[in-house]
Amino acid sequence: RFIIFLSIPRQLALKKLKKRFLEALLANNAQEVLHILHTDKLDIDTVLEVDDPSMVLASYKQGYWLPGYRLENSWATGIHVCVMYNALETALVLLQAGAAVNLRPNGKTPLHVACEVSNSDCVALLLAHGAKINTLSLSGHTPLHYCITKESVVCAKQLIFKGAKVNVSSHNNDEDTPLHTAARFGVPELVSLYMAHGASVNAVNSFQETPLMTAAFWAYDSKEQTYSEDHHIVSRILLDHGADPNLQEEDHKTALHKAAWNCDHVLMQILLEAGADARAMDINGCAPIQYLLKVTDVRPLAIPEVCYQLLLNHNAARIYPPQFHKVLQSCYDYPRVIEVMVNSYEHLKPTKKWRAAIPDDCYKRHKVFYDSVFGVCTNTPRTLLHLTRCAIRVSLRGFCHRGVPQLPLPSLMRKYVLLEPEGMLY
Ligand SMILES: *[C@@H]1O[C@H](CO)[C@@H](O)[C@H](O)[C@H]1NC(C)=O
Repeated sequence: RFIIFLSIPRQLALKKLKKRFLEALLANNAQEVLHILHTDKLDIDTVLEVDDPSMVLASYKQGYWLPGYRLENSWATGIHVCVMYNALETALVLLQAGAAVNLRPNGKTPLHVACEVSNSDCVALLLAHGAKINTLSLSGHTPLHYCITKESVVCAKQLIFKGAKVNVSSHNNDEDTPLHTAARFGVPELVSLYMAHGASVNAVNSFQETPLMTAAFWAYDSKEQTYSEDHHIVSRILLDHGADPNLQEEDHKTALHKAAWNCDHVLMQILLEAGADARAMDINGCAPIQYLLKVTDVRPLAIPEVCYQLLLNHNAARIYPPQFHKVLQSCYDYPRVIEVMVNSYEHLKPTKKWRAAIPDDCYKRHKVFYDSVFGVCTNTPRTLLHLTRCAIRVSLRGFCHRGVPQLPLPSLMRKYVLLEPEGMLY
């Protein structure tokens, strides 16, 4: 085996030539590119070093980099550069001159890159020139896995029409299908496309998560503390196509556990109306209502009382009465939550721990409410009105959300039976 060492002047000349080549590619100057290839005899598949601060060109095996570590540069062939900068004419010239279309100098082929930057013209060009449809990047993803934006739907369509596998799992520790990826990034158009082409709606990844669970989890942006309507639409599409809302992942969490963890009342309602079991337990015996209790005070944009109402009106098990002080401990600053919870029982007897669970300044802030709590939770029974509410709720066996609207009651009364908070107990 020979190793060829270039002399220093030749190295410098090559470096200059590569620089000219890169500049011509970036300028989409097909004439100059051809000139460099023919006159200066630059290898058409030569690997260039290019700026890549957002890692569009790079793909690594899992665990190779520390989280947050970023390389500013990457390696690329001329076609990669054309794809990244939408230099379509030059890409065509390279392909016609015989450039290799499936190279992955830094983990991705040009087709992976074209999908990542949602460039459907490039996808079409590459597919017409022999790009491999199901090829894997170094991180184990197919081109379809890189379609994660609304703009990439046209790319995904072309891939599928050419035979891309919609059920394929990524070849890495996650084993996500493209449907998981679309659910994670919340792209309803992609989810519809995959469903229309026979994707398995209950496919599980290596954590036993279905796309529905993935959408439920990522519907909340924990950094921005916002909820995503697109993820809600994705969940609806999945349920409409037969997603099972009661499947459990490796820790036995359901999609409802994840929605409860996010305090996402919109998604909780979607799931519960689709038949999600409010009593499902995770591996530690926790139901979704316990998840709500854990996060109520760290979800500033949520409407927690609605989440509790939804669960209790879908047959959720109530908190064991001797443990009720724990509800006060986690939700003392949310009187409407306390009100919903207390009203779900016929009668509750306070323990010594109740008052201690409420900080004094908080008690003062909500004095009217807390005075009413301790007023009604004494040894006397509550009002006939409240007891009637409880009787109706029992007769509907906990499924009040569905049952109550069918009762011949005025709408204010319906809200009352469904535990709508009013500001104080009586
Ligand atoms: C995907 O998987 C599902 C369930 O296993 C199967 O019914 C379907 O035919 C597969 N779709 C394709 C396009 O292979």
